[in-house]
Amino acid sequence: MVKVLFVCLGNICRSPLAEAIFSHKVGDAAHISVDSCGTSDFHTGEQPDPRTIETANFYNIPISHRARQLMPQDLRKFDYVIAMDRQNAANVTKMAKDNKVDPEKIYFMRNFDEQQDDINVPDPYFGGMEGFHQVYEILDRSCDKLLKHIIQKESEK
Ligand code: 4NP
Repeated sequence: MVKVLFVCLGNICRSPLAEAIFSHKVGDAAHISVDSCGTSDFHTGEQPDPRTIETANFYNIPISHRARQLMPQDLRKFDYVIAMDRQNAANVTKMAKDNKVDPEKIYFMRNFDEQQDDINVPDPYFGGMEGFHQVYEILDRSCDKLLKHIIQKESEK
């Protein structure tokens, strides 16, 4: 089983959308499991932001998640920990170091974006719907490449 974890700040906008898009692309490949979480506890227990749900619905992507905060055991359990921006990556990397977890499993989402013009997936929380559609486009492209990367890596094992 390959375990993939998407991480943002609140776990109500970017990472649950990434989880939904990636799960949709993975489809029935039962050997890949997908989850998401936030580095903060700001929205623990909440459903994705209504604008995240509206965006997923617009692109016919099923979405179902409850926000939760990243814990050290996540870093031991998951094989790919995918951070949405520099701030999340710094927080995840610090937790990994503090818990003696190999930081090599931490990636930037946009390292898989073929149209990368910035390393960050922009935080859409304080903006309008346009920002959510922009985030969708970034995540859709990045998830394609991430899935190819994982399948390639697995085939080399
Ligand atoms: P996310 O977006 O990290 O993509 O889930 C945010 C959600 C909530 C907040 C910031 C970003 N907040 O400040 O509450």
